[in-house]
Amino acid sequence: MQNFTFYNPTKILFGKGQIASITQEIPLNQRVLITYGGGSIKQNGVYAEVMAALAGYTVFEFAGIEPNPTYETLMEAVRVVKEQRIDFLLAVGGGSVIDGTKFIAVAALFEGEPWDILAQHAPIVRALPFGTVLTLPATGSEMNSFAVVTRRASQDKLAFGHPLVFPRFSVLDPSTTLTLPPRQIGNGVVDAFTHIMEQYLTYPVNAPVQDRFAEGLLLTLIEEGPKALATPDNYEVRANVMWCATLALNGLIGAGVPSDWATHMIGHEITARYGLDHAQTLAIVLPNTMAVQRNQKRAKLLQYAARVWNLTSGGEDERIDAAIAKTREFFEYMGVKTYLRGYGIGPEAVAVVLQQLERHGLTALGEHQDVTLVTSRTILERCVAA
Ligand code: NZQ
Ligand code: ZN
Repeated sequence: MQNFTFYNPTKILFGKGQIASITQEIPLNQRVLITYGGGSIKQNGVYAEVMAALAGYTVFEFAGIEPNPTYETLMEAVRVVKEQRIDFLLAVGGGSVIDGTKFIAVAALFEGEPWDILAQHAPIVRALPFGTVLTLPATGSEMNSFAVVTRRASQDKLAFGHPLVFPRFSVLDPSTTLTLPPRQIGNGVVDAFTHIMEQYLTYPVNAPVQDRFAEGLLLTLIEEGPKALATPDNYEVRANVMWCATLALNGLIGAGVPSDWATHMIGHEITARYGLDHAQTLAIVLPNTMAVQRNQKRAKLLQYAARVWNLTSGGEDERIDAAIAKTREFFEYMGVKTYLRGYGIGPEAVAVVLQQLERHGLTALGEHQDVTLVTSRTILERCVAA
């Protein structure tokens, strides 16, 4: 096992009715800004529940944080934070609202041009405190210190991370997820699945705890994901999916093991240029990363084949191919298409995405930094075909 430091200060308030508990987490004298997206929380009653909980507070709101949150929109929120002298942010929504709120928390106290936080890795020294009410299990943003922000004008989708942007608390009430449309249920499961894979499917470092955790989470998603689609009003299923997605990217399973992230980096560039949902890009790229990197990942691919898909007979490459096919089938079953063509995108995307990767210096990805532009090209060429 590799050396590691594990730190995660986010308090989780899990279960039905937990939105009411946020009053215990935010001091009453705070001026609170609620941030949210396009209005799903107004339709499903989550907004009303949050407002009821915050009845005694001075509350402001900022709506309209879009999927793949943009710098342009978030800077409007920064203006509100400054004008209204906000003390505490409360993100209510999915990964985009939470990521956007992390950026607002830092940008509001940043001296200089906040885009530099993403583009130049400018040092972060302060952030406003914030909590979250998660309504879409997928990204793990509710219990991690990362955020991804897009600059619309330049089509840059970039990430930053800092311990100051761990949420103070996150409410995970699975009943808030019952109104998710099938597309977002599928997206969430595919995103969480890929987070686990990018920390698991590298090379062995004798870390059986992390491996078994990862395999347990993968198996849970394979079992529960389809149930979330088939029985959309089943609270227990949503509870298991929700906790699974949080544990997939809260630092636990990635501590002490190598990680890959090539699929995510390539996927972010596809979203930046073509606007696909985050998880759609992962469903396209991951099976091809697995196939192209099969030699470097051979030992873990065989372990994955055996322990997750019960594929134990046949030659090595046969088992690996079968495991990749199972992965693709699972994504498709969750309603997420796995080829660019399925989204109306043709072979011209290969050069476009490669150019984006080059522009962002993403030329040595993966656990061995051997996913060069040449390798990314091979992966992307396989993404086109149907
Ligand atoms: O905007 P509203 O009206 O709320 O609708 C949203 C949005 O249209 C809707 N939705 C959310 N909860 C709902 C709901 N609809 C009905 N009922 C509910 N309970 O779902 C749509 C998508 O929401 P979004 O927040 O964009 O999805 P997701 O959670 O998948 O977040 C994606 C973003 O997170 C980033 C992605 O790159 C992308 O920008 N990621 C963040 C990570 C992190 N912070 O660690 C890691 C991930 O790999 C990922 O990169
Ligand atoms: Zn992701």
